[in-house]
Amino acid sequence: MRRDEEKLREYYAEAPEGVSLLDLDLERVPRHVSIIMDGNGRWATARGLDRSQGHVAGVDALREAVTTSVRLGVDVFSVYAFSTENWRRPQREVDLLMHLFATTLVNELPLFHQENVRLRFLGDLEALPERTRLVFQRGLDETADHTGMVFALAVNYGSRAEIARAARLLAREVAAGELDPGDIDESALSERLYTAGLPDPDLLIRTSGELRLSNYLLWQLAYTEFYVTDTLWPDFDRWEYLRAVIAYQGRSRRFGGVVRS
Ligand code: FPP
Repeated sequence: MRRDEEKLREYYAEAPEGVSLLDLDLERVPRHVSIIMDGNGRWATARGLDRSQGHVAGVDALREAVTTSVRLGVDVFSVYAFSTENWRRPQREVDLLMHLFATTLVNELPLFHQENVRLRFLGDLEALPERTRLVFQRGLDETADHTGMVFALAVNYGSRAEIARAARLLAREVAAGELDPGDIDESALSERLYTAGLPDPDLLIRTSGELRLSNYLLWQLAYTEFYVTDTLWPDFDRWEYLRAVIAYQGRSRRFGGVVRS
């Protein structure tokens, strides 16, 4: 991915103690970074605020994370915004999140244009409120020609449902005589996932200290490096992001073999 190193240095000019851009190896920036954004509710509760205000603060953190991804030269940046299980939250919170997704997307379109970011969605969008769906479609249409970073938002996403759907698609093709069962291999299945065409994540970050995958990208994370921080999502900033990437660069990725990548 192209990267403007001058902009990157400017972006990271005022370093807090303990983290420095100098520790970053620009040759080994992960191609695909994915984040499970967690802790909005706790962030708000700790401040005596309503959970909804935690989500609003989470939008600011997400905007910064998108910009950071672009500055670092990441090719694909994906985030888990709403799971198939999140419908179980109080209706008021679900409504607020759907509203936030739609308004955020409209508000951030100028940023996506300015940074040449192409949008993509992971998940079953059919079940979303009509306004949210229409806005998502507008986002897809307006950024379709962008050639920079892909920003993938997982909304109404569940990994098991995604894999079951891929199996269903394959079965239909076999039944229609379009596919030989012997041709069903890993790439045939990958091509029928919501992430078709995207590289698997190199780095998965989870905020708020939880050590769970929560039904996120189970297939795609097979060889991904995990980084968990206690920082709650609204407090996750460019420096936390940099710490995660530097930690990733310190790992030895062997993909099951013995050779250091
Ligand atoms: C987790 O906090 C976060 C979410 C449910 C995802 C929603 C993310 C945002 C609103 C950030 C902006 C995203 C977009 C796409 C505009 P939590 O409620 O699970 O926190 P808790 O575990 O502390 O309760």
